[in-house]
Amino acid sequence: MEYFSTDWQGAALIIRDLEPRDVPVLVEYWHGNTEDFIRSIGALPEKRGSRETTTAMFEEALTSADRERGRRIFVVTYRDEVVAYALLNITSKENAYAHAHVVRPEWRGQGMASRLFGGMIETFLAQGVERIQFQTSPENLAINGLLQKFGLHYREIDIANPDGMARPGRFFSYELDGAALDEIRARLRPVAVGRTT
Ligand SMILES: CC(C)(COP(=O)(O)OP(=O)(O)OC[C@H]1O[C@@H](n2cnc3c(N)ncnc32)[C@H](O)[C@@H]1OP(=O)(O)O)[C@@H](O)C(=O)NCCC(=O)NCCS
Repeated sequence: MEYFSTDWQGAALIIRDLEPRDVPVLVEYWHGNTEDFIRSIGALPEKRGSRETTTAMFEEALTSADRERGRRIFVVTYRDEVVAYALLNITSKENAYAHAHVVRPEWRGQGMASRLFGGMIETFLAQGVERIQFQTSPENLAINGLLQKFGLHYREIDIANPDGMARPGRFFSYELDGAALDEIRARLRPVAVGRTT
């Protein structure tokens, strides 16, 4: 299913559900990148497992059993290429954990996530959740810059046994509920220029 589309640098950025043909790109993101990169995003290289286990994990995300467990994966396409993906782990209606990744380095830092941010949050909320959290590594300037650019504030937390590929330790926790979403919408809306005469 397609959730969101917006024009960016002359073509459409589209957010849609993960499909089987997308899996190799996501596996390459986790296994084609250096260990230093994996650490820079707050993950532990040794938690990655093998390409086969990562492939199996993404393929499982395509099944209804995994959806029932609360995992949703969305990809972003641009000119028929997967350029980013987002993951939402829904533990309850009141709590869902979000992650976003632009898969190729040359696409990062060009405003793509900023352009997608409102649509990504709307896509997450369309899953029936009321509160979304991003837990970020304090050293990860790009994700913290993105969230703070949209007016979000963090509190510092310590996670001893994080799930997924995250490393244990200190994280910034950003919470998005109805009020935070209203603020994001306000930031995305073009500012009307008032007449002075
Ligand atoms: C984090 C990530 C999704 C952001 O997407 P992006 O398309 O690169 O972000 P944008 O270009 O829209 O930048 C958004 C803001 O983040 C900040 N930012 C982006 N890259 C930055 C960098 N390298 N250093 C410092 N700040 C940076 C800036 O404040 C920027 O806004 P501005 O350009 O208007 O000042 C992307 O960089 C990425 O996938 N990184 C690797 C994976 C990752 O860290 N994911 C987060 C795990 S939860």
